[in-house]
Amino acid sequence: MEITDRVAVVTGGASGIGRSICLALGAAGAAGVVVADIDADGAAKVAAEIEAAGQHAIPVPADVSREADVQALIARSEDAFGRVDLFVSNAGIIVAGGVEVTDDAWSRIWAINVQSHVYVARALLPRVLARGQGYLVITASAAGLLTQLGSAPYAVTKHAAVALAEWLSITYGERGLVVSALCPQAVTSNLAATSRRELGEEALPADIGATGGSAQAAVDGVLDPDEVADKVLAAVRAEQFLILPHPDVATYELRRADDRERWLRGMRRFQARLSSGG
Ligand SMILES: NC(=O)c1ccc[n+]([C@@H]2O[C@H](COP(=O)([O-])OP(=O)(O)OC[C@H]3O[C@@H](n4cnc5c(N)ncnc54)[C@H](O)[C@@H]3O)[C@@H](O)[C@H]2O)c1
Repeated sequence: MEITDRVAVVTGGASGIGRSICLALGAAGAAGVVVADIDADGAAKVAAEIEAAGQHAIPVPADVSREADVQALIARSEDAFGRVDLFVSNAGIIVAGGVEVTDDAWSRIWAINVQSHVYVARALLPRVLARGQGYLVITASAAGLLTQLGSAPYAVTKHAAVALAEWLSITYGERGLVVSALCPQAVTSNLAATSRRELGEEALPADIGATGGSAQAAVDGVLDPDEVADKVLAAVRAEQFLILPHPDVATYELRRADDRERWLRGMRRFQARLSSGG
């Protein structure tokens, strides 16, 4: 799908990857960019940046874990720009730990990292099916294809996000819905700070929080969010399902599928090295 003259909504648009996608969409000539975020001030700043560059944007405060907010966001976007062509469902958080993580934190990360995409799809689908076209990008993570060392809730919710994106593409792809799943490894952003704000200080120890990404950062590098946004726009233009800003992720996914036992042994060794500080 060409970006020029399209109306786009981006959740988590105030910061990090979402902010870069908003700015890139504006620069690419989108007819309107809706910057949605729970951080109203941050969203207003990004929308103002796009307007200052001569493009059209509005900020919309929204908590994507609330279905009413998602519905209101889409209604507000249609009021402002007439329609929604592209929805980038990008807001997300991370919490460190395993099964000991509290039910409250599991519920919160599930609501933001998974259920928000369900609300978005539920609201968009009748419109997409009526028009015979629409585009949904879901920001998952490489953790949704592989795993997230140190965070069971992140690995589980990001796998669920990829599964939902695939299911939507399979079920509605022939009826006009185009879906992409964005699966980066580490990206420079405010994910650690955002997650602490949402869940409290215990959400994220320093070993995961340094980049907001993962231990994998040391191996495959940390990308700038502007580079990720460029990849997202290129993938949307090509209507490509899987967006892998770190190309090595494709190799890791192949290795995992090819020999699961070997992949698990390798990941255990990687985890052990990290745990021993080596
Ligand atoms: N940074 C990385 O290394 C990395 C890697 C892979 C995937 N991701 C994913 O990228 C997405 C964007 O994260 P980021 O790294 O840019 O972090 P970020 O914290 O810089 O941006 C996330 C934005 O989402 C907003 N947000 C959080 N909860 C919200 C809610 N309930 N409703 C509306 N907005 C909400 C935050 O206010 C923030 O502006 C997330 O889904 C994250 O899981 C990040």
